[in-house]
Amino acid sequence: MKLFVYHTPEATPSDTLPDCAVVIDVLRATTTIATALDAGAEAVQAFSDLELLRQESENYPVNKRLRAGERGGKKVEDFDLGNSPLDCTPEVVQSKRLFLSTTNGTRALKRVENSATLITAAQINRQAAVNYILERQPETVWLVGSGWQGSYSIEDTACAGAIALPILNRLEVSQPDLIGNDEVIGAIALYSRWEKDLVGMFHQASHGKRLLDLNCIEDLKYCAQTDTLNILPIQSQPGVLVKHT
Ligand code: MLT
Repeated sequence: MKLFVYHTPEATPSDTLPDCAVVIDVLRATTTIATALDAGAEAVQAFSDLELLRQESENYPVNKRLRAGERGGKKVEDFDLGNSPLDCTPEVVQSKRLFLSTTNGTRALKRVENSATLITAAQINRQAAVNYILERQPETVWLVGSGWQGSYSIEDTACAGAIALPILNRLEVSQPDLIGNDEVIGAIALYSRWEKDLVGMFHQASHGKRLLDLNCIEDLKYCAQTDTLNILPIQSQPGVLVKHT
């Protein structure tokens, strides 16, 4: 196995795809996806384009669908939900399909949707992603941060480090053979610096500040929890994430 970390979808190579892509958007898309599936949502269908989301969801029974999404962190006005994981309670999402569009997370999903396997990870379900990778041992694994509009987001790279670190520690292969690029080393160093104070890190992060301006402190605290959900979202068809069983 070889692990690669890419800070943004734009930084991933365009001429190849991995055996396993792990899309990370800690604040907040992949935290929301894990939470919705854990709360009983039937699936989360991701769209980078809002108009396409509107058209596709139109063909789905009204009582079985929820339109969810944000732009710049704010709920899309005529949608049922924004992108807060705290809204994804069983009462709201049980048996429903979430049609979701977010500023960056859904763009990252689109970028690697043709990978042999695509899973999503956040801090709250980090261990489930680690377990899956250790069990399957895919030849190439890309940990892809969603970033913010093409630039790097510290919380996504720290989460990539949180995934890479236990994998490197567990496998009995020399670490240089497992490390595909320098970003892996940087991500682990970043996570090691902040692992005991992820909320503190979010307060300094540009998207953390944006969410604080939108009064989303409870979201920040929720997204900073480690390994609280034992759930792994996995792509069943392009753009559609379901609970891995
Ligand atoms: C994104 O996709 O950029 C984020 O999930 C934005 C957000 O926090 O809602």
